[in-house]
Amino acid sequence: MLRIGLLTSGGDCQALNATIRGIVKGLANNVQDLEVYGFVNGYKGLIYGDYKLLTPKDFSGILTRGGTILGTSRVPFKTIREPDEKGIDKVESMKQNYHKLRLDCLVILGGNGTQKTANLLREEGLNVIHMPKTIDNDIYGTDMTFGFYSAINIATDAIDCIHTTASSHNRVFIVEIMGHKVGWLPLYAGIAGGADIILLPEIPYDINKVVKAVENRKKRGSGFTIIAVAEGAIPKEIAELSKKEQKKAMEEITKQYPSISYKIAADIFKKTGIEIRVTVPGHTQRGGSPCAYDRILSTRLGSEAAQLIMDGEFGCMVAIINGKIKKVPLEECAGKLKTVKPNCQEIVAAKRMGISFGD
Ligand code: F6P
Repeated sequence: MLRIGLLTSGGDCQALNATIRGIVKGLANNVQDLEVYGFVNGYKGLIYGDYKLLTPKDFSGILTRGGTILGTSRVPFKTIREPDEKGIDKVESMKQNYHKLRLDCLVILGGNGTQKTANLLREEGLNVIHMPKTIDNDIYGTDMTFGFYSAINIATDAIDCIHTTASSHNRVFIVEIMGHKVGWLPLYAGIAGGADIILLPEIPYDINKVVKAVENRKKRGSGFTIIAVAEGAIPKEIAELSKKEQKKAMEEITKQYPSISYKIAADIFKKTGIEIRVTVPGHTQRGGSPCAYDRILSTRLGSEAAQLIMDGEFGCMVAIINGKIKKVPLEECAGKLKTVKPNCQEIVAAKRMGISFGD
């Protein structure tokens, strides 16, 4: 008898179910006796013993379904060692529930924070496998996370739609793309959508450079401009402050504006008199069906996780590196972030094309 547990944790994304299907089908087709337990709403289900024994019916028809059949929640790693409001030791409780069900392995689907807790559970002696999920593609140790390409497609569609109306009206538009700390999604969607200016958390912007880029387009006869702005875009003068002062300054901005995009719009207006429209696709970027690329990636990652479980190999993330599915020890990747390097090939290529990054 093989008993495995599954949980999805953190912000959802499109290909969670496709990955779950890959894992379970990969096992069910090769193992005689299999029990799969799904923990409800991420680590909360593991902490409070909220789980269900899943049947083949649960995994049928889920390849194309967005969201997660298990539910998810955010349980911050920062406070995982602190007792909850009722005094429950979260880590002890997770270990007890794992052992109570006599699990052979727990497969954890999630992003960076989720991975840190997975690594902690590994250190505590549990057999865990981590599956790299996030629309942000910021997990260190894998070239790609599932969810990323589906989100790029949605954000690109949003920019495409804005493009037609912006060009008809000769307007300047900001499209705000998800990514608080890391800008892979705004970078890729910005390039795919033909944005003229892309502002990322990793490249603090100079508002005067942004204004200049808008004015230069006007001078060259292009009446409209598309600016793709990451949620975490940061003005240069704030990025130069200490971490503490930065946090305070950004909080001041969010007191005044719904998000950084609205401040950028207001600043450009102040300097040029040009009226800017802001569009925020927001959580639509995490919604709907996974794209074909993600379905394939998730199936490959899930299938490999099944093989690792059958081989009794645990304590790793299943990654894709140079097109090959590989296992990466959790101690090598947990706690690290894969950020956009300002001199990476994508940015060099984009700059050559005339895209401004406001630097
Ligand atoms: O981590 C995924 C992500 O969608 C980020 O891109 C975004 O900044 C954040 O989650 C939004 O979080 P929430 O769903 O809690 O608003």
